[in-house]
Amino acid sequence: MLITFEGIDGAGKSTQVARLKRHLQELGHEVLTLREPGGTEVCENIRELLLQSKHDIAPVTELLLFAASRAELVEKVILPALEQGSIVILDRFSDSTTAYQGYGRGLSLELLEKVNGIATFGLRPDITFFLDITPEDAMIRKFSEKSLPLAFDSEELDRMESSGLEFYRRVRDGYLRIHESEPERMVLLDARLSPQILHERISGKVEQWSAAGRNA
Ligand code: TYD
Repeated sequence: MLITFEGIDGAGKSTQVARLKRHLQELGHEVLTLREPGGTEVCENIRELLLQSKHDIAPVTELLLFAASRAELVEKVILPALEQGSIVILDRFSDSTTAYQGYGRGLSLELLEKVNGIATFGLRPDITFFLDITPEDAMIRKFSEKSLPLAFDSEELDRMESSGLEFYRRVRDGYLRIHESEPERMVLLDARLSPQILHERISGKVEQWSAAGRNA
């Protein structure tokens, strides 16, 4: 089973990934969690290039670097883990590319579909949790957690986060559109709910999904 988490930066995905992992392990499942980009030495190097560098990277280059990292992770880690029967939980997957490089950067959705198809080897998530939050609320959350004054050009922001508020509005809108077109796969959750309520909804959905699979 492949479970993915999506949403703009600061939506609280990593907390929910960690809680779901613990919950599923307590139920006796083998669980692997990974974040994208990252997860192998090569992918971590690509991550560094994409996020830490302040280079101006062209949108197609950016797309191909995220895709290269994904292809490496899918082939070397995700597919083998799924074959061994593990549940794989990903903090971001191909919907991030559609939302960020497609809706955010303005690359054509046709191109994205092609590149996503190559990078995932056709692998699709069984269920995706989209933690929805406005860019304004996400920024407020991020800066208040670090007790820093809110500033959209802060040194604290990585290369992607420095793309500005308008960019993040387009990315969020992109996620909302993906959800509209695939409401069965993508579960939309209000990221402002408490972490405990979010966790209960998420784990409930996963259990529902796997019970349906067992009965099918
Ligand atoms: P990360 O620190 O993992 O952000 P977050 O904690 O919000 O998940 O950084 C990943 C960044 O890369 C984030 O800004 C989203 C962006 N991204 C893309 O633009 N396209 C992609 O395909 C992926 C996987 C991530």
